[in-house]
Amino acid sequence: MVIVYLSDAYEMKPFDCGDDDLNGFLLNDAKQYAAKKLAYTYILEDDNHIVAYYSLLNDKVSKRDASNAMWRKVKKLFPHQKHFNSYPAIKIGRFAVSKAYKGQGIGSKLMNQTKRSLMANESYSAFRFLTVDAYLSAVPFYEANGFQRLIANEENEHTRLMYFDMTCL
Ligand SMILES: CC(C)(COP(=O)(O)OP(=O)(O)OC[C@H]1O[C@@H](n2cnc3c(N)ncnc32)[C@H](O)[C@@H]1OP(=O)(O)O)[C@@H](O)C(=O)NCCC(=O)NCCS
Repeated sequence: MVIVYLSDAYEMKPFDCGDDDLNGFLLNDAKQYAAKKLAYTYILEDDNHIVAYYSLLNDKVSKRDASNAMWRKVKKLFPHQKHFNSYPAIKIGRFAVSKAYKGQGIGSKLMNQTKRSLMANESYSAFRFLTVDAYLSAVPFYEANGFQRLIANEENEHTRLMYFDMTCL
């Protein structure tokens, strides 16, 4: 399997992760997002299938978004003179594994590979965290991959804001 950048020339193949929004983004929107510089998408594929994909964009972890207790935890990662109201991050805008490949460890492998390749290219621009608005059903997956919640009792119906500290890699 290889990871390829979703360029305009990429010949799209069928993809079904079981979620219409995530399927629709890849099949209908992802190229436009890249063209407009809103998010870049990467595809894990074998010879004939899209196995998984993810999209990345710039973000920040901000005091405004966090609950007090969680923000204290974030601040503790930095010395006092580096206590800012936000810290640079990269957001995982979308992340999905095809139904046919779920539950085989591919999501975690792809997440590790993503973290490592971001680390390998980090000399261009600093970022400390990865963030994600995790679907409720995917929270255990992100927890298994080292992500933590930013809001203690978040009430959003569909997602939980989570972050991963890149120094934990
Ligand atoms: C969530 C998703 C990306 C996980 O990918 P995956 O390849 O199936 O996950 P893995 O096999 O690597 O699982 C890694 C760990 O997460 C856990 N996990 C994964 N999905 C889970 C779920 N829905 N509920 C509970 N635990 C889950 C696994 O048990 C495993 O834990 P372990 O290592 O302790 O056994 C995939 O199921 C998916 O694409 N779902 C639909 C789209 C989606 O929800 N995307 C996330 C958007 S925020």
